[in-house]
Amino acid sequence: MPGYGVMHNLMNKLEIKNLYKIFGKDGLRAYELIRNGVSLDEVRGCLDAFPAVVDASFDVKEGEIFVVMGLSGSGKSSLVRCMNRLYEPTAGSISIDGVDLTRLSQKELRRLRLEKISMVFQHFALFPHYSVLENTGWGLEVKGVDKAAIKTKALEALEMVGLSGWEDKYPHQLSGGMQQRVGLARALATDTNILLMDEAFSALDPLIRNEMQQQLVMLQGDLQKTVVFITHDLNEAMYLGDRIAIMKDGHIEQIGTAEDILRNPATEYVAAFIEQVDRSRVLTAGSIMSEPVAVLPIWEGPSAALRTMRERQVSALHLVGPKQYLLGVVYADEVISAVRTGESELEPLVHPEVPAVGQSTPIADLLVSSAEYMLPLPVVEEGKLVGVVPRVALLMALGERVNASNGNGDGDVSAGVSNPARERELQTVGVSSASSAK
Ligand SMILES: Nc1ncnc2c1ncn2[C@@H]1O[C@H](COP(=O)(O)OP(=O)(O)O)[C@@H](O)[C@H]1O
Ligand SMILES: [Mg+2]
Repeated sequence: MPGYGVMHNLMNKLEIKNLYKIFGKDGLRAYELIRNGVSLDEVRGCLDAFPAVVDASFDVKEGEIFVVMGLSGSGKSSLVRCMNRLYEPTAGSISIDGVDLTRLSQKELRRLRLEKISMVFQHFALFPHYSVLENTGWGLEVKGVDKAAIKTKALEALEMVGLSGWEDKYPHQLSGGMQQRVGLARALATDTNILLMDEAFSALDPLIRNEMQQQLVMLQGDLQKTVVFITHDLNEAMYLGDRIAIMKDGHIEQIGTAEDILRNPATEYVAAFIEQVDRSRVLTAGSIMSEPVAVLPIWEGPSAALRTMRERQVSALHLVGPKQYLLGVVYADEVISAVRTGESELEPLVHPEVPAVGQSTPIADLLVSSAEYMLPLPVVEEGKLVGVVPRVALLMALGERVNASNGNGDGDVSAGVSNPARERELQTVGVSSASSAK
């Protein structure tokens, strides 16, 4: 398609290509060796080199929440810090709006950071002697914005994160969750289009954390920022991420939507990892629906309805109008008596109340309706029947969940895994993450 390539580039806010970050004085030499096929273990063994990011390539689209997920020590922070050259990459390129950061001078880089990128960390460094308002406006102060404008922007940002009225308080007067919101407000106040968030919610307790997650999703919907969100928590990743990159030992193992990853894990490692997630919240009706078979256009009439039910061995049918508009359901006993009495229309037999669900309904919310309804649940978009969820598909999708979710704590994924191969894999992970704990 002509012009497609250009369009595509415009939509990519960030482009990371073949990025390496290898710590240690032999970093560059290690890079050459790795490029020539030497294994990471060998490199670690014989050189002063610690490969933290190995050949990472991905794009982040404008307005996307892109999550990088992996256990502690997998290289997430190194990766995200390379993205604004807080860490100098060993090799590879990082482009923002088509500008390669690795080619910028320190001065150009500083300007680009101020204009385009904000960063939010796990433990947000608020200044204890600055008020909430001053803390929020700090990023603008650095930029040299005038006082009145700073105040306006900071107040706006505080309102966005639900902290209006708190501007004159000091950090010690705020709860941890509120302090983290000030951190977020500071990033929002600077008006940069890109937010890099490194475990920004990981230190919060679960309720506040959920609240912050929801707030981020809402804010992002309004502001259309491009967000790179780092987390070790798969449930958080699945909730927030438009797309998710899963990292292990510096490598990106898989990039995809939550559903891609849940349904088609690319590696054994990813498969083991996703056993933690609560599938019933992530998988949707749309992802497990199939073609409806027990369906008939209403104008076909009662005899055709009876024949279809016999053929398909069902005792009810969904009826549709023009363009697949779902009209309701008819039941075999009523259709049979209509045929006996010579009735030629199906209209009087239609029961319009059906437990229709949307494509985006989480499968957790389908169970009750599914148990109470004799047909596969109809999936409806804008009134049209687009598919059905048979009960068996629902049960199978839920059954794939081997293990209930417990995604708390760095590296805590070993509980309740039954598959020995996966267990081994996870133990390996556990060892490497324990040894790199800070
Ligand atoms: N400054 C550093 N010097 C040497 N090794 C480092 C440094 N920072 C991180 N590493 C190592 O790089 C690997 C990835 O660390 P990091 O990027 O912090 O992972 P994550 O954020 O996923 O926990 C770890 O093995 C860590 O020990
Ligand atoms: Mg980290």
